[in-house]
Amino acid sequence: MRIAIASDHAGKELKSHIIDFLTLTDHVVLDYGVATDSVGSVDYPDYADIVASEVSNLRVDRGILICGTGIGMCIAANKFPGVRATLVYDEFTARMSRLHNDANVCCMGARTINHHRALDLIKLWLATEFEEGRHRTRLAKIDQLEKRIQGQHS
Ligand code: RB5
Repeated sequence: MRIAIASDHAGKELKSHIIDFLTLTDHVVLDYGVATDSVGSVDYPDYADIVASEVSNLRVDRGILICGTGIGMCIAANKFPGVRATLVYDEFTARMSRLHNDANVCCMGARTINHHRALDLIKLWLATEFEEGRHRTRLAKIDQLEKRIQGQHS
C-alpha cells in the first residue's frame, strides 16, 4: 500500500518510529511531515490537510496522522470527502475502525500511547480488512450525507 504520514511537533518522534518500521515492509511510505522535524511548534491542521488531501484524491491508499492526542488530526482529516479518519488507541479501536468503518486514515495520540504499543496498533490496523456487508450500506449513507452537505454549502 501507499501510505502518507505526517505529524505535528507533538508527534514527530512517534512518526519517525512508525516510518522506521514501515520502511522495512513492502509498503511505500510518503513522509509529508518533514518540515515538522526541524521547526518548533506547528499547527496540526496544516499536516492533516496534506495527508487527507492525498487520501481524498486517491493518490495514496491510507494515511497516518499523529498529534498529541490524535483528536485534532482526526477532526481536520474528516473534513475531506471520502476520508474516514478514526482515532486508534487500543486493539479494539484498531480492529473495529477497519472492520466496520473501513477507516483510511489512522489518527494517533503520541501523548496517550507509547511507541511500542503504537507500532502494534499500526500493524493490526494495516492488516485488518473491511468486513463489507451491512457496513458497506452504512458507509454509502455517509457518502450521501457528505454529498448533501456539500450541495448545501456550494
Ligand atoms: C499540540 O499541543 C496539541 O494541541 C496537538 O498536538 C493535538 O493534541 C491536538 O489535537
